[in-house]
Amino acid sequence: MENNHGVRLVWNQKDLETQIDNQSFKQQREFIFPRPLNVQELFTPVVEPVTIGQSRNSGRLIQGDNLEVLKLLHDEGYKGKVDLIYIDPPYLSESRYSSRIKLGDKNNYQIFERLVFIDEGEESLESYLDELYICLQLMKELLSTRGSIFVHLDWHISHYVRVILDEIFGTKNFINEIVWCYGGGSGTRRHFHRKHDLIFWYSRSEDYIFNPQYRPYSHKTVERGLTRIKGDKYNLRSEGALMQDWWTDINKILSPTAYENLKFPTQKPLDLIKRIIATASYPDSLVADFYSGSGTTAAACEEMERQWILCDSSPVAITTTIQRLVKMQARHFIYDTVTRKYPKLAVPSDLEVTVVTQVHSEEYRRVDIEIISYSTINERMEEIGPDISFKSLIEFWEVDLDYQGQEFCSQVQVIREKVQWDDSLPVVATILIPFQESGSIAVKVSDIFGESCTRIFTY
Ligand SMILES: C[S@@+](CC[C@H](N)C(=O)[O-])C[C@H]1O[C@@H](n2cnc3c(N)ncnc32)[C@H](O)[C@@H]1O
Repeated sequence: MENNHGVRLVWNQKDLETQIDNQSFKQQREFIFPRPLNVQELFTPVVEPVTIGQSRNSGRLIQGDNLEVLKLLHDEGYKGKVDLIYIDPPYLSESRYSSRIKLGDKNNYQIFERLVFIDEGEESLESYLDELYICLQLMKELLSTRGSIFVHLDWHISHYVRVILDEIFGTKNFINEIVWCYGGGSGTRRHFHRKHDLIFWYSRSEDYIFNPQYRPYSHKTVERGLTRIKGDKYNLRSEGALMQDWWTDINKILSPTAYENLKFPTQKPLDLIKRIIATASYPDSLVADFYSGSGTTAAACEEMERQWILCDSSPVAITTTIQRLVKMQARHFIYDTVTRKYPKLAVPSDLEVTVVTQVHSEEYRRVDIEIISYSTINERMEEIGPDISFKSLIEFWEVDLDYQGQEFCSQVQVIREKVQWDDSLPVVATILIPFQESGSIAVKVSDIFGESCTRIFTY
């Protein structure tokens, strides 16, 4: 126990659950080189194949339960290598987080409730604490001596987690309780509107990274200057005043048409995560998020050129993140799937694709790809009418232009221009690739449920 007062939170299963078993993993690996195709052009400019291992990837997106992923990272030697962990776990809010998406075209559409993840209620308090308790211990060991963890919660569960964090990280390593305040409506008339989240900041040691962040001085302070109040020793600093532990200047993503809004419930603003990364990491830092949702932490790391590791168990979270990173033309990254001993079987789907290749010139081969149809027997398909176009069911698709028979290497991607699920997704593309006599092309389609299906063509 790291805290020095001997007080700790106890629940029935607590000490029974802390042993970490040695389950085996099955892992599937892919490489993603974000290059969104502009399929409006008849000929896409030549796409030069990329070679895996040519340069260091910027990140690693892992689909899987974070306990499994944390064990894997321990086995792979990541202990002490991570400078910053940001986590935004479920809050025990008893909610089914879903987004309402509009499928079909403007004459024939339906609203579909796409489930992203389920957050249990208070009856699951013990199992919630069990899982988080083990995960936090494993996360602590990943942190470097200059490392920190930021744990994002709200009123539902923050009081319990704070006590656990004290126990694991030690009260002496508690740095800040950040209060993130935001606006927005709320229906209640029985109590004050609950309009803030809490972010607990703990460090691994006293040598933690801290890059001070500043806020603009208030108008009044600028007008009268500090000197008049505090004396000649104090001058206004050009960078502003040191930031406080309550943040009111970043709002929630509320507008459905906001550029940032990916229609992912619980998505956090990019500026919030960027502030945390700017505060507690350096450009050479590795940053991790084990409840990564829509991939805000990866997007922030891309903008700030940090290395990252992200993990989420929800297939919808993973496909949202991939599209987000492709759209922003992020650096290339690894995409791993980690499963327990007996992996879930893929949902059967029916994908019809044609790939026609022909010699274009001495230098190039022309590749014409068309997705003819797609259907899946995902259990939720019953809720989707038979007339909804197959294009609406496809989230995005990717092509490996030089498939080597093992790992899929996504070399170009066709994604949706806007965050919508109508039939505007292009299903035809023409690409020129450097000439070779023979080879293989793999086309992978990811659907709105986060499932995927691949077809391989040899020429
Ligand atoms: C509050 S959301 C995170 C939102 C994220 N910060 C963003 O900006 O989009 C919590 C995420 O944790 C994921 N999650 C819940 N339990 C998990 C587990 N055991 N392992 C991995 N991910 C988990 C959910 O799928 C969900 O995407």
